[in-house]
Amino acid sequence: MNTRSDHREVLLERLRASPDGWLSGQALCAALHCSRTAIWKHIEALRHLGYAIEARPRLGYHLTGVPEAPLPAEVAPRLTTRTLGRELTWLPLVDSTNRWLAEKADAGAAEGYVVTADTQTAGRGRLDRGWHSPPALNLYASLLLRPTVPLDRAASLTLLLGLAVRRAVRSLAAGLAVRIKWPNDIWIDGRKLGGILCEMRAETDRIHHVVAGIGLNVNTTARDFPPDIRASAISLRQASALFFPRAEVLAAILNELEPVYREWLNQGLAPFLDELNDADLLKGRTVTLAQGDQLLSGVATGIARDGALLLTTPDGVTPVYSGDVRIRSISGLRD
Ligand code: BTN
Repeated sequence: MNTRSDHREVLLERLRASPDGWLSGQALCAALHCSRTAIWKHIEALRHLGYAIEARPRLGYHLTGVPEAPLPAEVAPRLTTRTLGRELTWLPLVDSTNRWLAEKADAGAAEGYVVTADTQTAGRGRLDRGWHSPPALNLYASLLLRPTVPLDRAASLTLLLGLAVRRAVRSLAAGLAVRIKWPNDIWIDGRKLGGILCEMRAETDRIHHVVAGIGLNVNTTARDFPPDIRASAISLRQASALFFPRAEVLAAILNELEPVYREWLNQGLAPFLDELNDADLLKGRTVTLAQGDQLLSGVATGIARDGALLLTTPDGVTPVYSGDVRIRSISGLRD
């Protein structure tokens, strides 16, 4: 035990484990082999992170509240995974968690590494869009994967992540009708709840890494969204009238993802096709797909084994692998 965060983890463990809730400064000094002043500094740092710690003369310290933010000490006890999220960094502020993690990946970080941030100043969305990232409300997380699969399998990973997020949301708030809008959006009630951004570094025949970014609107209320997306975005809180600790949301996603990721490594999307087609927001709808300057219209008829969107046009069924999909004139739905 030598870093400050190691000390703080031990301190928290001791406070949580204390039978009557109180732990003397002396006991903490003995456990951490440090001075009372050092203990006091750690307590202050923990308070700053959102821990409520009462201090009383003669009794010592008492942990009375924990933060809902996805701090490692709050996520770890909820994880059932072997690798995903076992190494986890929380940042109060970053430009983009995807960019930050790509740098770590290039430096050799291991599969399963997760970074989350309280806020992002340059959150990235798909197709060079930004991602609105207000502090303290939502989940902004990136996960490092190093899948040993053929390159052409990688595109379907976005759908797999969407499926894991959908499962997690449904486990947290039963009854929510969560849909996946191919290829990377999570929708509820005709509005966008979140999105996935997978960014890959690869050679022609080998994937070095995938940084899988997840942005999920968790506790935002209407006034927290900027006016231009207020009508088209939704949060878990708006959809369910419940508050969700972000630590719980992140753990639920990682717990759902790990087993399906293992299955996907061996079998691709095949085992998940029924579930994906059940979640498919576009199925049966007339859509227009923008691919560069080209517009392609047709009826979306499902998701294929390789992750393609199947578009039925007068010329037959066309598998589509990329593009920006717009739903045509369906009342109650916005894209
Ligand atoms: C989209 O719907 O366009 C994808 C949005 C993905 C946003 C997340 S937030 C965490 C991670 N870091 C980023 O910069 N982007 C992703």
